[in-house]
Order: sequence, then structure tokens, then C-alpha cells
Amino acid sequence: MSNRLVLAYSGGLDTSVAIQWLAENKGYEVVACAIDIGQAAPGEMDRVRQRGLDCGAVESVVIDAKNEFADDFVGPAIAANALYMGKYPLVSALSRPLITRHLVRVAGDTGATAIGHGCTGKGNDQVRFEVTAMAIAPDLTVEAPIREWGLSRDAAIEWANERGIPIPVKKATPYSIDENLWGRTAECGILEDPWESPPEEVFERSAPLGRAPDDVEELTLTFDRGRPVAVDGRELDLAALVTEVDRRAGAHGVGRIDMLEDRLVGIKSREIYECPGAVTILNAHRDLEDLCLEQELAQEKRGLEGRYAQLIYNGLWFTPLKRALDAFIDTSQVYVDGDVRMALYKGSAWVAGRRSSQGLYEHDLATYDASDQFDHTQSEGFVKLWGLPTKVWARRQGNL
Ligand code: ARG
Repeated sequence: MSNRLVLAYSGGLDTSVAIQWLAENKGYEVVACAIDIGQAAPGEMDRVRQRGLDCGAVESVVIDAKNEFADDFVGPAIAANALYMGKYPLVSALSRPLITRHLVRVAGDTGATAIGHGCTGKGNDQVRFEVTAMAIAPDLTVEAPIREWGLSRDAAIEWANERGIPIPVKKATPYSIDENLWGRTAECGILEDPWESPPEEVFERSAPLGRAPDDVEELTLTFDRGRPVAVDGRELDLAALVTEVDRRAGAHGVGRIDMLEDRLVGIKSREIYECPGAVTILNAHRDLEDLCLEQELAQEKRGLEGRYAQLIYNGLWFTPLKRALDAFIDTSQVYVDGDVRMALYKGSAWVAGRRSSQGLYEHDLATYDASDQFDHTQSEGFVKLWGLPTKVWARRQGNL
């Protein structure tokens, strides 16, 4: 009986070496499975697929999941304004449930009894892979060869060389990078000193401010039910739209995030993110909500957004609470339609104007000029009743 395992394959050193390790130590035939969610240059994923075979996989597949990632994961994150600790757009956290879903499906298609990932024991990604697997395929075995093996980079290279495994010859970078169309993450090396500025070489998707244009660029985003659907009037599917906004905002140095992050495994880590598109789109979306959401709903939603981001961060995408929050968020987005003009300049993306056919801004209520329709006389009674509990309390207990 076959003992097959579907491995989440990135083409990097760790997962390349893991193929042979899983065969030797656990008796698995490994199916390498690489998921394209916008992390690679055109053509690169073909090389990743071939490398999987060269490193000993019995089968190697590449799945183009860019649209699925955008539609099923990034879209809901936009609707929820999802930022972990108020800052991190959840680049890696959003991708792990999608990758796991594909591993499980390929396992079914290829008769595999296990899936595997290349995470260490120190991060959040192991949790996301494994808890997602528990949610959608509770009886499937999950292997974590890198966590179990615990090899250093040098030892892994030596181990591979002894066996003639053609490991990727990439120039050694001290950083651990993860990337997709929603952004790019960097950890390790000098970044582990929170006092040190990140060196310029860490960045790829955002221009340094010194090289950013000296003119403001404007970009208009159109939203339909909380989803961005067009840039400057040009309709695009979400994956293409995010990529386009990312490129344009990145040219202005927008989207660099430097933060100390609370990991689920209990440690604080210093993280550098580059998310020009995410930062621009989220700023625009939140602003449009301020125009379109009724205020009680808006306040409740703001309270739930942080919780939603935390669930995603903690690997709880496929859970009943997440589903219930989605129902709330979906309802809230029904009238979030309109255009937001974003200005891009020297690292900032700010809202320059917004409009909506569903907007709750009424000029005649807001204005201070002669067209004012607001009934000032009603405020007298309103203020008296609003302040009544305070007045009663003060009469009895004295002033503060
Ligand atoms: N700290 C971020 C997170 O937990 C980024 C993780 C990046 N993953 C990686 N394998 N380099 O979402």
C-alpha cells in the first residue's frame, strides 16, 4: 500500500531537502505541491516544479491559486479591515488556510495519506497549517519534517550534498522571506535587533523615500459591496487590482511596516512587512465605510475587526466563530459602494476625496451655510435628557 505524502513545496532549501528526508526516515513517496499566490516572477513556478522532481518527488504540481487567494481570502480581509495588532495585513496568515486546502485536495486526488509543511517549531505558520488540516480533514496525518529534524542551514546543505540532491543554489540571504500578492514579510538576521533600522536590501516592493517621485500621484479606487473592483475607472479582477495598486503605491515608498509582533507561540518578534497595495486599499476601504456605514454598526464593526484579525493570525480561519463574524461583516458591506481618491507621496497613502451613491453624508444637515436644514431648536431638549443621568448623579454624590 502506498505511503504518499503531499508536501507544501516552496522550492527553497528546507522543503527541497525535506523531500528526501521524508523518504528516508518515514518511508514516504512525496508529491511536491507548490501554490502560486503571486509570490514569484513569471516562469519561476515552472522551475520550482522541475526542482521538486529533481529533489526526488514522485510527482510535482504547481497550482495557480492567485484568483482564489484574492477572492476567498484577501477580499474578506479587506471587508474586515483586518490588521493584526492594528498594523499587519496578515500576508502569511491568509495564505496558509488556502495552501492547506490545496494540499488536502491533492492528497485526495493522489491517494496520499498525509500532508506536510516545512515550518519550524517557532512560528505561527505551523499552527495555521495544522489547525486548518484539523478543521477540514481531521483524520489526515500531518508531518513537519523541518520541525522534527531541527537541522541548521549548513547541516542541511551538507546532508543534501552527501546524497547528491540538487539543492537550490541561491545567494544566501540572511532573511526569512514569505511573499504573495498581498505583501512580503521579512524576519531574521540584523532585523532581530529591534533597535537597528532595516537595511535597504530587505525591501523589494517599495522604493526608498529618496528615490520616490517628487510629485503626488492620485489613484481612484472603486468599491462594490466592500470589494475594490476598479482602478481609475478600469475594472480588474481582485488579484490583478491588488497587484496594480501594489506596484503604483510601492513606487512611492508606501507600505513599509516595522513592528514588534506577539506570536501565538508566546514570543515577541521583530517583523518587517512591505504591503503597498494592502495599506492603500485598506485605508481607502475604511474611509468609504465611514461614509456609508450607520454609526452604531460602524462602532460595533470596529470592535470586531481586531478580533477577526486575531482569529486569522491564530490559524482559526475554518472555525464557527470566523464564519459567524463573516456573516456580520458581509451584511455590513451591502452599502459600501463608491469611489475613493487616494494620494500617494513619499511613503504615505492618504484619502484625498470620496463619494458614494449610498453615502450617509447629507450636505444640508452638515452645512453651516444658509441651506442648513438641521433643527437647532431640538438640540436643547436633547442635551438636557442626554445629560440627565450625570446631573442626577452629581446632585446626589457631589461634583467630581
Ligand atoms: N510573522 C508573520 C506571521 O506570522 C510572518 C510569517 C512569515 N513566515 C515565514 N515562514 N517566513 O504571519
